[in-house]
Amino acid sequence: MAKAKNRPIVEDNSGLTRRKFLVSAGALATGLAVTGGIAGCASTGGGGGNTSATASSGAAPLPWKYQKLDVELVRKRGYEGYYKFGCCYGAASALLTTLTETSGGSWGTIPQEMFAYGAGGAYSWGTLCGALNGSLAVINLASEKHADIGNELMGWYTEFPFPSEKHDSYCKIPKQMTTVSKSPLCHVSVSTWANKAGARINEEAKKERCAKLTGDTAAHVAEMLNMALEGKFAAAYAVPGEFDHCMKCHQGEKSQLDNQQGKMNCISCHDDHTKNK
Ligand code: HEC
Ligand code: HEC
Repeated sequence: MAKAKNRPIVEDNSGLTRRKFLVSAGALATGLAVTGGIAGCASTGGGGGNTSATASSGAAPLPWKYQKLDVELVRKRGYEGYYKFGCCYGAASALLTTLTETSGGSWGTIPQEMFAYGAGGAYSWGTLCGALNGSLAVINLASEKHADIGNELMGWYTEFPFPSEKHDSYCKIPKQMTTVSKSPLCHVSVSTWANKAGARINEEAKKERCAKLTGDTAAHVAEMLNMALEGKFAAAYAVPGEFDHCMKCHQGEKSQLDNQQGKMNCISCHDDHTKNK
């Protein structure tokens, strides 16, 4: 391709469509960066990623105690909760309701409706998938390993073929088409699926897909928390080969350039300038 110098994406001769996509993707990336920034602040405090309640908050110190969760119950509740207040609420409430039952303590003190904000990638802005957003909040409350488990959840989500068939005995539309989004963004996740399925965003099939994705994501959190409880949690996500070389040069303090923030799959939005054309 032409020069990889200044803003090669915008000058990419593949045309306007791509340029338009990138402009909107930029807005999405900004939304995510804000979320990431908050998480980043929270984890810098303890060094080990653990946060403890400040004297002023009056809340019980983290992590809150939890007991083993019924993974399939969480999955079903996530699916059902989606139809109440959306994906973020669905995932958070599935976990919180189940945690309240098994573990009590502070778990029942959280007003679950607060997670309504996350629907559609935060008030339908298409940024961070709400099922991730709601799940990450609960992980942060539940485990001192929240940074590792949360990172694993994000990576897993980007490579998982949603939706699973594990809802098929009770859902409205079983055996749906699956797609791997390669992205934690609602916009990308939904559009990748809707394109392949030939579905409109506001039709029943898309809601079913997102309801199942909500349950699948919350269920995976339950699985990981169960493993962590037994001291058996191990991260499985590895940066896929298609962009791990990008990371080495562009991402992180020790990288050559250290000029971009984020762990999203670069080639969703950028061309690979290391491959000659
Ligand atoms: C061997 C190191 C290396 C690798 C690997 C690499 N890059 Fe780069 N990248 C560079 C350098 C050096 C520049 C040029 C910086 C400049 O001219 O300011 C650059 C420029 C860019 C730019 C334009 C930045 C600007 O300042 O306009 C983007 C976007 C980019 N790379 C993305 C990627 C992506 C995506 C990948 C992986 C698919 C990747 N890079 C892999 C070293 C690398
Ligand atoms: C969701 C889309 C998206 C993803 C994913 C993404 N980028 Fe970008 N990136 C952008 C946009 C939009 C810009 C700003 C474009 C511009 O400056 O013209 C940008 C800018 C950059 C720049 C230029 C920064 C500067 O200071 O000029 C670099 C370098 C870059 N990205 C590298 C990466 C790498 C490496 C990855 C993967 C780890 C990545 N990007 C993932 C959308 C994305």
